[in-house]
Amino acid sequence: MIYRRVLRPLLFAQDAESVHERTLALLARMGRLVRCRRPFTDPALSQEIAGIVFPNPVGLAAGCDKNALAIPIWPRLGFGFVEVGTVTAQPQPGNPKPRLFRLPQHKAILNRLGFNSDGADMVAYRLSLVQGGKGLPFPIGVNIGKTRNVQGKAATLDDYRASFRRLAPYASYIAVNVSSPNTPGLRQWQEKDRLRDLLALLKEESESLAVARGQRAVPLFVKVSPDMAPEDICDVAEVVLEQQIAGIIATNTTVAREGAFEGLTEEGGLSGPPLRERAVATLKRLYRATGGQVPIIGVGGIDSAEEAYQRIKAGASLVQIYTGLIYEGPFLPLRINQGLLWLLERDGFKHIGEAVGISSR
Ligand SMILES: Cc1cc2nc3c(=O)[nH]c(=O)nc-3n(C[C@H](O)[C@H](O)[C@H](O)COP(=O)(O)O)c2cc1C
Repeated sequence: MIYRRVLRPLLFAQDAESVHERTLALLARMGRLVRCRRPFTDPALSQEIAGIVFPNPVGLAAGCDKNALAIPIWPRLGFGFVEVGTVTAQPQPGNPKPRLFRLPQHKAILNRLGFNSDGADMVAYRLSLVQGGKGLPFPIGVNIGKTRNVQGKAATLDDYRASFRRLAPYASYIAVNVSSPNTPGLRQWQEKDRLRDLLALLKEESESLAVARGQRAVPLFVKVSPDMAPEDICDVAEVVLEQQIAGIIATNTTVAREGAFEGLTEEGGLSGPPLRERAVATLKRLYRATGGQVPIIGVGGIDSAEEAYQRIKAGASLVQIYTGLIYEGPFLPLRINQGLLWLLERDGFKHIGEAVGISSR
C-alpha cells in the first residue's frame, strides 16, 4: 500500500533506467550489510527440480540484477531463487539510451536494453565473492546470451561456450537465452537445427566440467520467446526432449503489438500484463508437447498469488517475476508465497507439485 501510494509515484516521476540503477545500488549496499540467508520456505512450497532444491517457487527473472550486484538482498525479499544476467562473454554497453520505458496505464514495461553487461569475467568474479567458497543457501541461475558484435554460427557457438565455461562453476543452473528481441539474429537460435547444435555443445561442456570438478553437471534451462508459432514451439520441445535439457523458461518479452499497443512505434520487448496471454499459451503448448516431463519456469505478467497459481496449474513448476515487482513493490514475492500456501490449502493440495499442469492435461 505504502509502496503504491507513496514510493511508486516518487520513483515513477524520474527516468526509468536511472531509478533502476539507483535502486539496485541501494539494494547492493543493503546486501553488503546482510548475510545471505535461506529465503522463506514451507514444506508445501519447497521442491527439488533438476537436482536443485528450490526453497520456494518464486524467482527473480533475468534482467533485473544483470550483473550480480545485489545477490544477498533478493532472498530477504522472499525470492526462492535468483536468475542473474543476461551476461555476455565480452563486456558491452547495450543499445543507446533511452531504452527503458514504463507504460503505467497497462502496468507494463518496454525495454530495448540490448544486453548491457559487465561481461562474463566480472560477473563470475562477483559470484565468486558472494559465494565465498561455499554454496549459497538458495539457487542462483545465470542467464547467458550472445555478445552483440559476434557474427556467424561458429563464432556464436564459441561465444556461448566461453560464457558457459566462465560462469557455470558459480551457477545452480545456466539459462540459455535465445529469445531476447533486442540482439539482432538472436531469436534465430530457437530454430530446430541451430538450437540442437547450441544445446548439444553446452550439454557436452557441462558434462566435461562435471567430470573435471568431480561434481554434478550444471543443468541447462532454455529461455524461449512468446512469439513462436505453434509448430516452432513443438520443435523446441522436441530438441529439449532429445537433448535431455533440464528445463524451459517461458517466456521472454514480446515484440507483438496487439490491441491497445498497435500504435506503439517504440521498438523493444513488452513485459507485464500485456504479455500474459502469449506467455500462458506458450507455456501450455510446451507443457503438452513435452508431456509434462520437463520442468518449466513460467514468467510473463505475474503480479499476484492468483496469477502465479494459474501459471502453476497451466504447467509451471516455478515462476519468475520482474515487471510485477516494479508496479507492486518489494513485498510481492512474499505475498505470492503466502497466497500460494492459502490457495493450495483451499484446493486440497498438500504440495505445489500436485497442482502443476492440472489445467493443461
Ligand atoms: C527491463 C528488462 C530487462 C530484461 N532483461 C532481460 C535479460 O537480460 N535477459 C532475459 O532473458 N530476459 C530479460 N528480461 C525479460 C524478463 O526476464 C522476463 O522474461 C519478462 O520481463 C517477462 O516477465 P515480467 O512480465 O514479470 O517482467 C528483461 C525484462 C525487462 C522488463
